[in-house]
Amino acid sequence: MYILFFFSFSFFRKCYCCVDRAPRSKGKATSRRPKNKKGKASLKDVDPEIFELIKEEEKRQRCGLELIASEVIDKLEVLCQERALKVFNLDPKEWAVNVQPYSGSTANFAAMNGLLNVGDRFMGLHLPDGGHLSHGFYRPEKAVNISAKYFTSLPYYIDPSTGYIDYDDLEKQALRFCPKLIIGGSSAYPRDWDYKRLREIADKTKAILLIDMAHFSGLVAAKIINNPFEFADVVTTTTHKSLRATRAALIFCRTKYAKDINYSVFPGTQGGPHNHAIAGIAVALREALAPEFTEYAKQIVLNCRTLANELKTMGHKIATGGTDTHLLLWDLRPHVMCLMGPKKNILKMPNETIILHKIMLTSNFFYDGLTGAKVEYVCDLTAITINKNTVHGDKSALNPGGVRVGTPALTSRGFKEEDFKVVAKLLDEVCQLSIAIQQEAGSTKHSDFTAIADKSEKVKDLKRRVEEFAEKFPIPGRILE
Ligand SMILES: Cc1ncc(COP(=O)(O)O)c(C=O)c1O
Repeated sequence: MYILFFFSFSFFRKCYCCVDRAPRSKGKATSRRPKNKKGKASLKDVDPEIFELIKEEEKRQRCGLELIASEVIDKLEVLCQERALKVFNLDPKEWAVNVQPYSGSTANFAAMNGLLNVGDRFMGLHLPDGGHLSHGFYRPEKAVNISAKYFTSLPYYIDPSTGYIDYDDLEKQALRFCPKLIIGGSSAYPRDWDYKRLREIADKTKAILLIDMAHFSGLVAAKIINNPFEFADVVTTTTHKSLRATRAALIFCRTKYAKDINYSVFPGTQGGPHNHAIAGIAVALREALAPEFTEYAKQIVLNCRTLANELKTMGHKIATGGTDTHLLLWDLRPHVMCLMGPKKNILKMPNETIILHKIMLTSNFFYDGLTGAKVEYVCDLTAITINKNTVHGDKSALNPGGVRVGTPALTSRGFKEEDFKVVAKLLDEVCQLSIAIQQEAGSTKHSDFTAIADKSEKVKDLKRRVEEFAEKFPIPGRILE
């Protein structure tokens, strides 16, 4: 069972390069499928080193008397570490890497636990501004994340007028707060980071600089965005986002921090290593070293820029005006403005916000309407996966005015710029449909909106067209039938 799981996981893991087997065809869709199929090769061909290690483990279990669950991990772990350092061009004399963290959140906590004492101060990007829970999120009533419960966190912010990180304000706050650690990196920030500036701020306050590159580590590996390793002391990453590996995480650190961080991972915050995950990461890191991966990463960014530009051309607003990375934030608030009567009945969906503001000030009419949650709902109904997300200046993190859209997964399926122009049109349709549903609902209640969306024939028609389009593209791995 153990072996089977270990084997199947490694085989199942997506292997994208050097692969040449066709998936089953399905109706018309075949015309778009490229001949060279990805994600279907055997591990033996894709990664003979890992294949041999698994064979060795299989033999150990078959030819011995296993009286307690155990696995040979050392060779696998060392190989994974070597590959991780190589992917990011790191000198093993200066950098160490721990490949055991179970996930990004536990990696961040383990790193903090290794570097800080309970109660020590640290700063991270505010969650509604694009940061992550594990960067110290708290609310007035409680510390939401364990990082804010055991340590003392202070958020820094994006400039609400531009959507860019306000490094000047961060510096001002840091000089007052004197954090022992500053965390850079984000879950929903479409622009590249100024690591040099972060280093300067960290130096002024004698803080350790940790960069969480969970989202964009694949783009760092491909050297198409700034390199956090030039300035950071510690770099964490999940492995399953743009790095396209198994779901787990890595912690890189300057060698002087390695002992404390390693001890904090095990025995500090974790038990035994997850060998299947480490094997999967090792295979993906080998892929990340291949030139095809750089092409993939470049295409992710090209696709994302195309999507942003197309949406802009159609009159939509993109936070910060565009993207440097794999994701964009679509600001829906220009569509939010609708004039509501005192009973929350929609009276009008106007364009002239300024005039309406005057009305609002002088009466008990108010504005509300389309939100990230409502567009996310219609996307779900039409087989499009996006996330509702706060956009700069949003007052409520629970009811945000935007959505987050990323291009890595579809890029893995072979989507190019022309295909993302089609995606942009489909997203525009979702938005127009949502506005129409909002008008028909006549109230701002989410349940009134969803009731109409659920029954809409136009929504069903859009779903059919989205699926027809999506099925033209191959998907890595085997199709379950
Ligand atoms: C920046 C960042 N750090 C950490 C994490 C946490 O990763 P995990 O879900 O593996 O705990 C995420 C996940 O979205 C993230 O975006």
